[in-house]
Amino acid sequence: MELPYAEPYKIKVVESIRKSTRREREDWIKKAGYNLFRLPSEQVFIDLLTDSGTGAMSDNQWAEIMRGDESYAGSKSYFKLHEVIKDLLGMPYFLPTHQGRAAENVLFSALIKKDDIVPGNSHFDTTKGHIEFRNASAFDCTIDEAFDTTGIHPFKGNIDLQKLEEVFKKYPEEKIPLCIITVTCNTSGGQPVSMKNIKEVSALCKKYGIKLIFDAARFAENAYFIKTREKGYENKSIGEIVKQMFSYVDGATMSSKKDAIVNIGGFIALRDEELFNKASVYNIMFEGYLTYGGMAGRDMAALAEGLIEGTDFQYLESRIGQVEYLGKKLKEFNIPIQEPIGGHAVFVDAKRFMLNLPREHFQAQTLAVELYKEGGVRGVEIGTLLADRDPITRKNRYPDLELLRLAIPRRVYTNNHMDYVATCLANIYERRGELKTGYKIVKEAPIMRHFTVELEKV
Ligand code: F0G
Repeated sequence: MELPYAEPYKIKVVESIRKSTRREREDWIKKAGYNLFRLPSEQVFIDLLTDSGTGAMSDNQWAEIMRGDESYAGSKSYFKLHEVIKDLLGMPYFLPTHQGRAAENVLFSALIKKDDIVPGNSHFDTTKGHIEFRNASAFDCTIDEAFDTTGIHPFKGNIDLQKLEEVFKKYPEEKIPLCIITVTCNTSGGQPVSMKNIKEVSALCKKYGIKLIFDAARFAENAYFIKTREKGYENKSIGEIVKQMFSYVDGATMSSKKDAIVNIGGFIALRDEELFNKASVYNIMFEGYLTYGGMAGRDMAALAEGLIEGTDFQYLESRIGQVEYLGKKLKEFNIPIQEPIGGHAVFVDAKRFMLNLPREHFQAQTLAVELYKEGGVRGVEIGTLLADRDPITRKNRYPDLELLRLAIPRRVYTNNHMDYVATCLANIYERRGELKTGYKIVKEAPIMRHFTVELEKV
């Protein structure tokens, strides 16, 4: 008999989670203004709000926490992390930051000015926020296939070269300080970018004299997809694939809270000394001195170990395998999800799920609230609330995709938890025809409103 799959780790520490009643949850979510970000975590049974900073560290990472060197300048842990980054990504320069958006803030301070254009595949919301905050614009050049959740394409994170070249032709070089490839592309569904596409985008950027930067939050998961889906890479190691991916870019911003399996941290990796020197000034101003930049020594030490563990093939196979497990369960219940299944999350297509709910009622948010009420499961809306208003017209922007994201923390839940989540959604799917009214906004922030927005039933 062929042996069944089993995780390449065992569990040493557990944390209790508590089930609640539907009555309690209805009360709690109302008090939270129907915004799941506003719920205290004790009111959540299974938390799939994000895979960011929520992973379980290993025994070796916890050992690194004890080994961390807290020296203000020249910390051992800084040098350890620098060695791992150089070795893994092949980037000679690096700046530690407290998380991914801080890396964006520092690097963009050095690069972006008013009226600039920053093309890429779909930018993550903090990335777009940091671009628009500087009165510049983010242009989405993702391939059209990404916006059809039913079409199968192995690399839905890819950039459409024609769309990108149009931007390069339309605007002068000095207005385009950088192009960003987000690997994997969170906004379009945790979808990977192929090596071929990275290489071609890189060549196009070189032709027009434009810097190419990775938003590298989930670079290891992207490498796993290249290995398992792209011809010619099946026999390459994750390490070799990662090195090759980074060989095509000038640098990267990294939220270490994802693929590096730490609870906090980020960094900027760069190839060019001049840009490093320029960014260093902002790093000292916004984050901290060059050898800690917003991170404790112990956190840098755990991050160095996390980068090694996060790029291990067996680990990635189990991690992405669990995401796929949940996706397949949902498909068995005929629930519409984005396909192929993404690397860090399953994205439920709320437009296809919510048959009788108008878009103005926030379809994905309504589904997220229903799922919470059904079983205490917290997902997150990746749709109209997240898309914010147009900065000029102040009208709601209706994105092509209206998704409920179920992001799976790394090494945290078992497949029994996944079965529970799938059953909750199946129950809602059965009564989807009755869901005819959703929510309206009563209070919102001018930018990144989804974190604090307050809603009311229509
Ligand atoms: N880039 C991508 C692709 C991200 O997914 C995130 C965060 C960031 C940048 C910002 O990093 O949170 O460390 O400041 N994504 C989280 C999520 C919040 O839930 O997807 P950060």
